[in-house]
Amino acid sequence: MRIVLLGAPGAGKGTQAQFIMEKFGIPQISTGDMLRAAIKAGTPLGLQAKEVMDQGQLVSDDLIIGLVKERISQDDCAKGFLLDGFPRTIPQADAMKDAGVVVDYVLEFAVPDEEIVKRMSGRRVHPGSGRTYHLTYNPPKVEGKDDVTGDDLTIRVDDEESTVRKRLGIYHEQTAPLIDYYKQAAAVSNTEHHKVDGTQSVEAINQQLATILS
Ligand code: AP5
Ligand code: ZN
Repeated sequence: MRIVLLGAPGAGKGTQAQFIMEKFGIPQISTGDMLRAAIKAGTPLGLQAKEVMDQGQLVSDDLIIGLVKERISQDDCAKGFLLDGFPRTIPQADAMKDAGVVVDYVLEFAVPDEEIVKRMSGRRVHPGSGRTYHLTYNPPKVEGKDDVTGDDLTIRVDDEESTVRKRLGIYHEQTAPLIDYYKQAAAVSNTEHHKVDGTQSVEAINQQLATILS
């Protein structure tokens, strides 16, 4: 099963990825998490990506395409995978198509921009795993601590309001065209495109996705 999660920053891709990955036993490939791990480790990739990401801009297509191709060639991706935050531009989607990657499901999360700005201010993350919480909508069991490891939760640098608004602008300009791209693909192939109302509760979306994917 090969799944693409499509949606604005803060639409809930990472939150639902956690659920899908556990339920269906396929790895989550979050390009954002991979880049943040590279920054933390101080690799050349991380050094290149840091400033661009902190400013809410997109990392170059070449860099990202190389990263994803390398990741999906690994053994644990043989049975399928879940792409979270990729593709994010038409050239990235074309690169997957050219590499012969057939997408089974495109799940589009729709959330209005103002709701997203509200959500981001309450987001807390576990940097080691990418697990995501919200102070009000999806709180951890113990305040400020990750449910699994007990590590401290952190705030993402790019969650500052002005950066979130910039990321939303880039989403509408460069990523939203992928909705029509995949709708067209769905019309001529076995790819299924599903639009999900991302303003529902986390649990309601979990259930809807379980039905779509079963
Ligand atoms: P990335 O990490 O992919 O960020 P993003 O796409 O901007 O998405 P987010 O992680 O911000 O949001 P999400 O949809 O995962 O929402 P979440 O579940 O956390 O990318 C970061 C940066 O890396 C980019 O800006 C770019 O620089 C670079 N990059 C990454 N991929 C790239 C690519 N392919 N090409 C080029 N550059 C790339 O939820 C958000 C909050 O809402 C949380 O607090 C959560 O608890 C809460 N929440 C979730 N669901 C609900 C719900 N149903 N109701 C209420 N609250 C909810
Ligand atoms: Zn995410």
